[in-house]
Amino acid sequence: MKEIEAWVRPNIKALKPYASARDEFKGEASVYLDANENSFGSPLPQNYNRYPDPLQKELKEKISRVKGVPPQNIFLGNGSDEAIDLLFRVFCEPAQDKVLICPPTYGMYEVSAHIHNVDIVRVNLLPGFELDVEQILESLTPSVKLLFICSPNNPTANSFHADDVELLVQKFNGIVVIDEAYINYSRQKSAIRWLTEYDNLVVLQTFSKAWGLAALRLGMAFASETIIHYLNKVKPPYNINIATQQYALEALDNIQ
Ligand SMILES: Cc1ncc(COP(=O)(O)O)c(C=O)c1O
Repeated sequence: MKEIEAWVRPNIKALKPYASARDEFKGEASVYLDANENSFGSPLPQNYNRYPDPLQKELKEKISRVKGVPPQNIFLGNGSDEAIDLLFRVFCEPAQDKVLICPPTYGMYEVSAHIHNVDIVRVNLLPGFELDVEQILESLTPSVKLLFICSPNNPTANSFHADDVELLVQKFNGIVVIDEAYINYSRQKSAIRWLTEYDNLVVLQTFSKAWGLAALRLGMAFASETIIHYLNKVKPPYNINIATQQYALEALDNIQ
């Protein structure tokens, strides 16, 4: 077990998160007076005048059954891009910590790093687009807090060798984010199978690609309870809107 807590930014550890009416009341209610919702309903047939469940419990239960991951190990984001952004917020001290990426790869890791003023360490893929494991291990200095591995990789389309990826998860004293946005197009087995073994692992998946639901903006992060706790702590309170939650539940019911 690694020291996840020790890598969390001190201000995030100390943060008293926003508590919504929905968080504080555990039972079933149709009216939350302190939420200041419009009690006259919405112009649409659905109850869009009410705020959505901030922790998306019903949706997580259903995703849990499909993915074989307990609900407490699931975080849902407004696209997996939101999970990427929140990982920087939790683990990277601006102007101090670093992130390691392996170009050519998905551009958002770099954009998020710039947004958070986090320096980027680049270890290019080898000819043939494999990971340069030796060079990555050498470059993982203590200031590197996040390592992004996109597998299958955008834009090269190959999946990395499972042994290489697992070795990096084992050796790195920091968070390894395995972005599996394209996992459903590949024969590669998901890194979800390593979650019970490594608490410094985050696996990202999304409803935007094989599910054909990019417009709904729904991404998944699977990780240890500690990491999920901190992602929930820093997320905007109602980050997954109610229409997205309802449509995703419907899509999950329609799996062939
Ligand atoms: C590798 C990779 N990760 C994440 C994303 C973003 O996915 P989402 O739509 O869930 O934010 C993309 C989108 O192109 C991608 O290529």
